Amino acid sequence: MSEKTHFGFREVEVNKKADHVGEVFHSVAEEYDLMNDAMSFGMHRLWKKILIELSELSEGSVALDIASGTADIPKIINKKFKSVSVHVTDINESMLALGRDRAINENFFKSCNFALASGESLPYQDETFDLVTVGFGLRNFTDKRKGLMEMKRVLKTDGVLLILEFSKPTNSFFSKIYDWYSFNIIPKLGNLLANDSDSYQYLAESIRMHPDQETLKGMVHDSGFSECKFYNLVNGVVAIHKAK
Ligand SMILES: C[S@@+](CC[C@H](N)C(=O)[O-])C[C@H]1O[C@@H](n2cnc3c(N)ncnc32)[C@H](O)[C@@H]1O
Repeated sequence: MSEKTHFGFREVEVNKKADHVGEVFHSVAEEYDLMNDAMSFGMHRLWKKILIELSELSEGSVALDIASGTADIPKIINKKFKSVSVHVTDINESMLALGRDRAINENFFKSCNFALASGESLPYQDETFDLVTVGFGLRNFTDKRKGLMEMKRVLKTDGVLLILEFSKPTNSFFSKIYDWYSFNIIPKLGNLLANDSDSYQYLAESIRMHPDQETLKGMVHDSGFSECKFYNLVNGVVAIHKAK
């Protein structure tokens, strides 16, 4: 029997998950930024700024952003560090094209190199980067451990890994409100603003299936990182894992 994995709450064949994820992001690409602002009340902008605040980057460093989507994180890096070169990657052509167009339109293209690439099989040599970031991408990977090991491989010895991802609220009352919001409001917003409730139902489900803070920290350690700590944002709705 073929091996299965989860796609939201559904079980799918392992070798089909990337196609399902691909369909979601091709479908939401055009309305992705609008939906991000609407669903998070604009807070994702602050979370990404905090991420780069933790980066330990300095001028002249080389960074890799995995699952870049519309290139929010490369844009913030460029705003803060003009001479950092950022490799901007995504597995999805539609999302990567939006990121590239935005870099051209918003004048940060010069510091970027774009590549269509899976975070689970990175087309870079060992010990290339000072910083690897992945924002709201890891939960979509078919094999998260493989992805984390790839991130470790391409980082320099003292390089920093930063993972920004939905996580588990620490307060049980807040958690109930968040569940209600995720399963009742988010798919409706998706329908209203992006004409696509299914993709946003997947979003809510994929968040619930993603490892919680401590489990992800354990996975990061198992992937070869010796230090890992996490920061909870908005009561743990989102967490940043920082590893070396
Ligand atoms: C929710 S978006 C995040 C975009 C951006 N990083 C942000 O924070 O706004 C998730 C992105 O992950 C990408 N993605 C999904 N699976 C991936 C994989 N295995 N490798 C690289 N990118 C992947 C999708 O194509 C999509 O653009």
